[in-house]
Amino acid sequence: MSTSNEYENETVLITGGAGCIGSNLSRKIAELGAERVIILDNLSSAYTWNIPSNDNIEFIKGDILDDASLKRVFKEKPDYVFHLAAHFANQNSVDNPEKDLMVNGIGILKVLEYANLVGVKRFVYSSSGCGVYGLDSKMPFEEHDISIKLHTPYQVTKLLGELYTNYFHNLYDLPIVNARFFNVFGPGEVPGRYRNVIPNFFYWAMTGNPLPITGDGSETRDWTYVEDIVDGLLQMGIKEEAIGEAINLGSAKDHRVIDMANTVNELTGNAEGIKFAPRRNWDAKTKLLSSINKAETILDYKPQMTFKKGLERTYQWFTENWENIEKNAEFDSKQPKKIKLRQKISSNKSINCLRV
Ligand SMILES: NC(=O)c1ccc[n+]([C@@H]2O[C@H](COP(=O)([O-])OP(=O)(O)OC[C@H]3O[C@@H](n4cnc5c(N)ncnc54)[C@H](O)[C@@H]3O)[C@@H](O)[C@H]2O)c1
Repeated sequence: MSTSNEYENETVLITGGAGCIGSNLSRKIAELGAERVIILDNLSSAYTWNIPSNDNIEFIKGDILDDASLKRVFKEKPDYVFHLAAHFANQNSVDNPEKDLMVNGIGILKVLEYANLVGVKRFVYSSSGCGVYGLDSKMPFEEHDISIKLHTPYQVTKLLGELYTNYFHNLYDLPIVNARFFNVFGPGEVPGRYRNVIPNFFYWAMTGNPLPITGDGSETRDWTYVEDIVDGLLQMGIKEEAIGEAINLGSAKDHRVIDMANTVNELTGNAEGIKFAPRRNWDAKTKLLSSINKAETILDYKPQMTFKKGLERTYQWFTENWENIEKNAEFDSKQPKKIKLRQKISSNKSINCLRV
């Protein structure tokens, strides 16, 4: 996919820009020559060491629920808004449903109100494939086939976000796009109890623990490398045909959890294997797979990264940032035993990971 340089000399606001996807997107837009990339992030699940240091990136620590912070960033009259800030994700929302509604519901409403007030060229919202498709949606998921039979507050509020963006588009002509991400992974995501499975598996593996699969490992996911997501987002910001649309950004390939776990153990040289735990009660969708036909047509979207290579890149980022990752990774009472990262890990070492 060709990356257009319409961002040159523009001002871009990225809420949640210190997070996993946001930090990668901020860096890319800064490199494309934006005048300014303004990151608004309250650092609730992000860290300053993970914010790109480009000269044209300005980090403002602030909350999307706080009017003073919103006035501060919208005073700069951003041309583009990428709204990525969110209370993340499913388990966190089950544990903290009201907080989830505040940030993902009232939060997006406020950001939309300000964006509408100042007038922006594009408002791109980070929705979720896991959020808006349900057991009654047909796989591979196509954009029209959403569900209202959802299983977590996070899924409810990610869908709510789309309803709000659509409302602003329908009533005020705000040029919005709803980006439906599928299982994003890659450099930039620090592990933790509410984080995604891939960074968490690297963490368990690098601290010498068995990888905990909740289920039997035959579950599949449509893991999508963060750089492919960034490419899709950039196109959503500029393609006219994307306005008012919801568009999947996935890899359109499914992989089994157990195969991913084995690859992580191989890459890290972790000999502790895998352990199985019961599936989480909200984790009803055992398989996820996107259709990316619409993204291909409207955005010229074509994911570039193979899953294996993406995992290798993720592991490389883990090794390069291990000191910070180890310091910041937070888990609950079942804290893994921490062992020192092996000084030398042979990335090609092949071991039998299945010890259960
Ligand atoms: N990672 C995925 O697999 C995935 C899948 C589907 C959708 N999404 C969506 O994409 C977006 C980015 O995801 P991510 O993986 O980078 O998550 P992330 O948690 O790394 O990023 C979210 C960022 O928002 C910030 N934030 C949270 N509450 C805030 C608030 N009240 N005010 C200001 N900042 C706040 C956090 O500190 C964090 O930096 C989210 O909206 C998420 O729901 C992610």
